Amino acid sequence: MIQLSGVSKEYRVGPVKVTALADVSFGIEKGEFTVLAGPSGSGKTTLLRLLYRDEMPTEGEIRVAGYDVTRLRRSKIPQLRRAIGVVFQDAKLLPGRTVYENVAFVLRVLGAPRREMTARVMQVLKAVGLSARAQALPAQLSLGEQQRAALARALVKEPALLLADEPTGNLDEAIAEEILDLLKEIWSRGTTILLATHRATLADQLKRRTLVLHRGRLLKDED
Ligand SMILES: Nc1ncnc2c1ncn2[C@@H]1O[C@H](COP(=O)(O)OP(=O)(O)OP(=O)(O)O)[C@@H](O)[C@H]1O
Ligand SMILES: [Mg+2]
Repeated sequence: MIQLSGVSKEYRVGPVKVTALADVSFGIEKGEFTVLAGPSGSGKTTLLRLLYRDEMPTEGEIRVAGYDVTRLRRSKIPQLRRAIGVVFQDAKLLPGRTVYENVAFVLRVLGAPRREMTARVMQVLKAVGLSARAQALPAQLSLGEQQRAALARALVKEPALLLADEPTGNLDEAIAEEILDLLKEIWSRGTTILLATHRATLADQLKRRTLVLHRGRLLKDED
């Protein structure tokens, strides 16, 4: 599902070069649940952004869901992104739209038929336990509920790969646990998941293969 070979990423900030990733190589099979761990600034978000072509690497090869990401034509980027759901630490919901509309929006952009839309949106809201909150605005939701809505939005296009960047970062422990349980459930239904976190305890708790980044280098890769 994911294959990185010799991937490096340098950012230029004025005259200064920042190495965010240095010679990273690894593979993730379809159906795996993998944790991407490492302290703040180690390159986790950068790595995820490379996977959905939000950034280009300075060097190296990247394959995701059958796409040669670095050689992908601009016109094909939407196809790549259709295969990838992304959730961030802050839910990034559209504030003026209801939960329902936030999720439906994705299908509208993808050109899904109107008839199917309501059923698919309600189905995914049910899966994340938000059926009763479909007509609420994001500001009327708890942080945990906002994160569930963000998950629903990522999942409604049925992506083969789900990238989660600190999805429990703003949540207290009990609610974070609920989100993790939800991720495991999504995974058990066949979605490949890559979860980035700087919290080592969370990585341990999940008992999944863990890729550890340190200053942009892949330190260890353990099951
Ligand atoms: N757009 C950017 N421009 C310049 N430097 C950047 C940019 N994005 C990230 N960096 C730098 O790259 C390095 C890796 O950052 P990144 O955000 O990938 O880390 P992270 O592991 O996600 O950290 P955190 O746990 O705090 O989210 C850091 O030194 C950061 O300052
Ligand atoms: Mg980050």
